[in-house]
Amino acid sequence: MPQVIFVAAGVAHEGEIPEDGNLVVRAGIRKFPWPHLKYKCGMGKCGTCAARVLAGGEALGEPSWKERERLGERLAQGWRLMCQVWPKGPLTITQDQDSAGPPARTGTE
Ligand code: FES
Repeated sequence: MPQVIFVAAGVAHEGEIPEDGNLVVRAGIRKFPWPHLKYKCGMGKCGTCAARVLAGGEALGEPSWKERERLGERLAQGWRLMCQVWPKGPLTITQDQDSAGPPARTGTE
């Protein structure tokens, strides 16, 4: 099961998600990373779930056309749409605009 670290408001939350799990789906059923992950449509349209990948981007595969369309040049800055990815390995992400990296870990969920 992929280990995910989600940095929200400067605090690192750590948890596991199932193989081929999706973070927006997990948040929607109130599993990790809930309630911190911001999202709305779940279909790659609104961009609310955009998160910057701090480590483990190779676990996400190539961006979809929806990500390319919605994120534009932010893709090159490491942003991805969490409703459009299914992590295959360890991943660290943030939705904080100014986070340089993960702070000390504080626990799960
Ligand atoms: S939740 Fe709307 S684009 Fe991901």
